[in-house]
Amino acid sequence: MNYLKRIALPIMTGVSILALSVSAQARDFKLGLITPVPHIWTQEAQNFADELNQKSNGEHVVKVFPSRQLGNEAQMVQQMQTGALDMAFLTIAELSNRVPEFGALYAPYLVDNIDEAAALLKSDTALGLLNTLPQHTGLIGVGYGMAGMRQMLSRDPIRVPADLDGKKTRITPFEPIRDFYNAIGAAPTPLPLPAVYDALANGQVDAIDMDFDSILILKFYERANNLLISNHMMFPMVGVVSGRVWKDLSKADRVLIKETMKSHLDKVIDRFQGQEQGLETKLRSLDVVVTESTKGQVSDAITEWEKTWAPKAPSLGALRKTAAELRTQ
Ligand code: BEZ
Repeated sequence: MNYLKRIALPIMTGVSILALSVSAQARDFKLGLITPVPHIWTQEAQNFADELNQKSNGEHVVKVFPSRQLGNEAQMVQQMQTGALDMAFLTIAELSNRVPEFGALYAPYLVDNIDEAAALLKSDTALGLLNTLPQHTGLIGVGYGMAGMRQMLSRDPIRVPADLDGKKTRITPFEPIRDFYNAIGAAPTPLPLPAVYDALANGQVDAIDMDFDSILILKFYERANNLLISNHMMFPMVGVVSGRVWKDLSKADRVLIKETMKSHLDKVIDRFQGQEQGLETKLRSLDVVVTESTKGQVSDAITEWEKTWAPKAPSLGALRKTAAELRTQ
């Protein structure tokens, strides 16, 4: 063996052993999210963890941290940017605070109902927005989930959205929804999900912006029993992986994680879509006064909202076009 071969062989063997051990290296991942244990997001995060563990023959373990155990979403994004947190299911709310383009997904009446929301979030137009995430946030966007359509729940009777005029109305802390409630004359009050029940109970807020599922599982109807079914907005979620963690994963692991997580994000969408009608029926069977509102009742607010957001979120036009196309299919 000549000299070159004598030193090259051990080096190459070392490299291939290293390469093998990187792709086969067992990993303990952490996945954070803000929703409580019974929420569908948390259930599917755990189902993703279980399936990834099984598909990797026990190699990959994902520990799920629900209920803001790792902090709020802003803190979780920071942790993912440093690589301290591996993965998260985040509301688009937090992303839209960092990347205004995502505000387009919160355009009032971008979709008319949950079926349209599901189809739009699975469309190439919506998924294409995720390509901008690594550059703007250092996160890899795997796909969307969602919660139910947004409704208005009030302590006092409300017949139309304008009845919230001057009322302290809880919103998830993000700008597109704040601008919508400002435009209808309400006093938007940003509060994270875990603070909502007490805020309704102690009168800190008069009304809340919420979905059927959370109203039921977190029992908000006990504290406010006037429901205005407005379906004014969809509520997307995104599954993300830290870019720092991603770059150290083997190609095979990236594919495995992406495909497995995406299938559970799709399940989140399907489950919300499948249960929405039943949840409405359930709420109607409780001690809740239900009224329905229309898009026309907030047309001025929509115009005002678009004036602010169309320049900040240029993909709004393409999303509206895709939503219209899906509606006619
Ligand atoms: C909310 O802030 O209203 C919310 C957040 C996550 C899931 C459902 C609702």
